[in-house]
Amino acid sequence: MRQFLSVADVSDVSSIVQEALALKHAPHTHDKLGNHKTLGLLFFNASLRTRVSTQKAAQNLGMNVIVVNVGTESWKLEFGEGVVMEGDTVEHIKEGAAVLGQYCDILGVRAFAGLTDREMDYSENIMCKIIRYAGVPVLSLESATRHPLQSLTDLMTITELCQKPRPKVVLTWAPHPKALPQAVPNSFAEWMRCADVEFVITHPEGYELATEFAGDVPVLYNQDEALTGADFVYPKNWSSYRNYGAVLSQNRNWTLTAAKLLQTNAAKVLHCLPTRRNVEIADDVLDSPSSVVIQEAGNRVYAAQAVLKRMLETNF
Ligand code: CP
Repeated sequence: MRQFLSVADVSDVSSIVQEALALKHAPHTHDKLGNHKTLGLLFFNASLRTRVSTQKAAQNLGMNVIVVNVGTESWKLEFGEGVVMEGDTVEHIKEGAAVLGQYCDILGVRAFAGLTDREMDYSENIMCKIIRYAGVPVLSLESATRHPLQSLTDLMTITELCQKPRPKVVLTWAPHPKALPQAVPNSFAEWMRCADVEFVITHPEGYELATEFAGDVPVLYNQDEALTGADFVYPKNWSSYRNYGAVLSQNRNWTLTAAKLLQTNAAKVLHCLPTRRNVEIADDVLDSPSSVVIQEAGNRVYAAQAVLKRMLETNF
């Protein structure tokens, strides 16, 4: 695996899931693979899980890790072509990424969608420029349109917990006070379409994901109907793709509650975290055995480790 930007970079999805599960049981089996290799983690946005789990994954493989928070700990970067840089940006990505490529063997990048310019976000402008100028393999830590490390973890967790063939998995929109990117639901949809699951998406009208991600997955506007018989439920907020970045609804009837889970097949509840309690998901779900969000967050280490292992094996 040269790079890890989406599910398209994985030739065998079920095999990498099994590899991540095996690493969970023996995390130090390959602790010399990354010796003398440096992973740089470049954050344009905040993070708890991705930052810590990816560092731990790299350390389990014997890598050195350097974390850079862009703008607060490094210079503010410019991405525009031909810009006269007399504003607040101090360093152009052409030099910034190229310099990081001198220090790092693999570069992880987190750069969220701006949610103002759909064309710019969906072209993955920041990620593409870093790939172009860094000259080293790049790992997505969540881009404008995808969060593949999270989605691999989600599938790993479903596989780990699954009690039956072809479980029903429901991605349900949930309310949130702020506009959030579509990266997590986009990516989850993309990965579920590659998995042996019955996958359904439910959201209020106007929250349709881009066709390149949702494909022909059934979309229901009735959450109760979608949840019926579900084995796994993934409540998650996202802003509108069509009316780009807009918050079209704050309807708390879409909050996932214990009462709603009664119509499921004793579903386990996933979430990438962080989540707004009693807005996206009610306390009576998060504090119940139905919630597997902590196990899921723990699995982030082994998903990242499986990806880094493959990148080390391929590139060096
Ligand atoms: N799920 C996730 O990516 O968490 P962080 O934003 O804390 O990294």
